[in-house]
Amino acid sequence: MSDKQSIWTLDTFLQFRPSLRGNYKADVAVIGGGMAGILTAYFLQQRGVDVVVLEAGRIGRGQTRNTTAKISCQHGLIYHRLLRDFGLELAQQYANAQQQAVELYRHMAGAGGIDCAFQDAPSYLYSTCRTTELERELRAAEKLWIPAGFMTSTELPFAVKGAVRFANQAQFQPLRFLQAIAKTLTIFENTMVRAVEGERIYTEGGIVQAGEIVVATHYPFVNVPGFYFLRMYQERSYVLALRHAQRLEGMYLGIDAQGYSLRGYGETVLLGGQGHRCGEHPAESCYESLRQAARQIYPSSVEIRGWSAQDCMTLDGVPYIGQYSAGTPGLYVATGFGKWGMTNSMVAAVLLSDSILGKANDCADIFSPQRFHLRATLRRVCRDRAHWLRGMTLGFVHVPKKRLEKVPNGQGAIVKYQGKTAGVYKNFKGETFVVSARCPHLGCRLNWNPDELSWDCPCHGSRFDYRGFLIDNPAMQGNGF
Ligand SMILES: Cc1cc2nc3c(=O)[nH]c(=O)nc-3n(C[C@H](O)[C@H](O)[C@H](O)COP(=O)(O)OP(=O)(O)OC[C@H]3O[C@@H](n4cnc5c(N)ncnc54)[C@H](O)[C@@H]3O)c2cc1C
Ligand code: FES
Repeated sequence: MSDKQSIWTLDTFLQFRPSLRGNYKADVAVIGGGMAGILTAYFLQQRGVDVVVLEAGRIGRGQTRNTTAKISCQHGLIYHRLLRDFGLELAQQYANAQQQAVELYRHMAGAGGIDCAFQDAPSYLYSTCRTTELERELRAAEKLWIPAGFMTSTELPFAVKGAVRFANQAQFQPLRFLQAIAKTLTIFENTMVRAVEGERIYTEGGIVQAGEIVVATHYPFVNVPGFYFLRMYQERSYVLALRHAQRLEGMYLGIDAQGYSLRGYGETVLLGGQGHRCGEHPAESCYESLRQAARQIYPSSVEIRGWSAQDCMTLDGVPYIGQYSAGTPGLYVATGFGKWGMTNSMVAAVLLSDSILGKANDCADIFSPQRFHLRATLRRVCRDRAHWLRGMTLGFVHVPKKRLEKVPNGQGAIVKYQGKTAGVYKNFKGETFVVSARCPHLGCRLNWNPDELSWDCPCHGSRFDYRGFLIDNPAMQGNGF
């Protein structure tokens, strides 16, 4: 987690929950208290199921607190791709599931009375220089019965060449929503799950027994079976909250190389962008690049917050929601939301609660984790192999003082010594912090992230602070010596 906190944390207090001490039994256990886990548990509880949530830290403190919280079925240029790669029937399943998710949020915030700054808003994909892909996406959306239109001007303070508008989408304050639905759930916080064996879940404080288990830990931590580490990487992006920027009614996403994400929240505009694969931070500061954009787009704006987050990206751009692996009935997963985890968490809650209650769902097939494109997977494995190999020779290394002195104050660097490698960070006072440069997940070499002062893994996106404490999974321990 970044210590730079989102604006959602400013006006939400999430009640503290006890940690598990001793053993516990429930019909269903949900591991992970982000939007996906809490919504799934809420749906199960609403349908009369005895369910418990096990959360390693605090609920809502994972990626969910750092989202921009657009509730939209417009997920980039996805529908043209889905029609091409999956065909009409499966693409329609995706579109229907996402549209139903938007409606369910609307219902819960409206008729359900959840106070979460829910607001109807159209969403737009825009480009400042081209229209071909947008027109193609519009045709795909129309084919899938999504209400869409094409515009050549928007409320944005810069000209666009074109924009595809989806009507009837929404935005909200995600943590206030989470706080409301978590109220009556049984939750154990500061309860990290170390292993799952059959119906038994092993935590540091005790064992939980549950007939059905949902892994909603953002990146699944069970490597085998499932092999999710072969089929997903993580991508980071950055957000600035700006005051004194022109108020926005709609939600926007640019499709150009330097396209930005924008939405309003009252008097504030959230400007997002500068995405990159986790562990592959560009040379320049992502926050500074985004600040430059803010100065150009909203010259009078004032930055009140800046933060970053990351999300899991699947090989084919569709989340994995369903049975964890072919050989594990009763074990489920919800992951790979591709930066669209608000509607996809709702999709997961519907599909997984249906599945656990034995109810068929006609949108389930496209999300099935059992779809496995071996050729595409092998391509990814070859690409990632370079990262894995770099990490293989590492281990404990004592770095001589002379080597450490070469690292400038305020910077992090990989230091090589006698064929071994360590990660070294020196703060502005000259204090030095040395950690293993090897990721404890599967051994890839970590890279320094100067924006967040963290060591980030390019393989599957685990992150560690400069002292070696774990920030983001799938690793389950820190990288300190
Ligand atoms: C910059 C950015 C902007 C975004 N904006 C949007 C948007 O506008 N709209 C949208 O739809 N999506 C958006 N997303 C995506 C969305 O925020 C995420 O997909 C979503 O929050 C993921 O929720 P989650 O519940 O899967 O994960 P998390 O919120 O990370 O929750 C997982 C939880 O599992 C816990 N956990 C992990 N391991 C264990 C363990 N071993 N035992 C117990 N607990 C464990 C963690 O502590 C954590 O609390 C954005 C993403 C980014 C990066
Ligand atoms: S996250 Fe898998 S090797 Fe680092």
